[in-house]
Amino acid sequence: MADKILILNGPNLNLLGTREPEIYGSESLADIEALCRKAGKELKLEIDFRQSNIEGEMVDAIQSARGTAAGIIINAGAYSHTSIAILDALLAVELPVIEVHLSNLFQRESFRHHSFVSQAAYGMICGLRGQGYTLALQALSSILDKKKAL
Ligand code: DQA
Repeated sequence: MADKILILNGPNLNLLGTREPEIYGSESLADIEALCRKAGKELKLEIDFRQSNIEGEMVDAIQSARGTAAGIIINAGAYSHTSIAILDALLAVELPVIEVHLSNLFQRESFRHHSFVSQAAYGMICGLRGQGYTLALQALSSILDKKKAL
């Protein structure tokens, strides 16, 4: 059976395509989901792609990944910079996590330079727009292969 990857998107990412396209690009979240599904097929990974504007729903989704998913890709949006609850959930599930941001956080306001999610993440990709998600899938795939080879 293919390993399942939870790809979790946080607040306002449902508005991609129309939301500040000069910062986030013109791709919609559905476009990014399609890219992820194509990459998932190539990498033989099952994709569980979700978005929520609600912090508690994101915590529930992360908790439900324990025992059902092999890894997590997360763009927690603004909650990256504020949410200890999301960090704690990521630490609790003990799964490999890759953090993604569409924009380059370090070219933006200083409050975006710190992410709680990073503390639970294997690595972080930012500034590469939608391509960041497919690169994160490739990274997770090789992390999972290495784990299996141990
Ligand atoms: C974001 C960056 C966050 O600072 C912002 O609040 C978002 C999107 C990104 O993908 O670049 O909502 O996570």
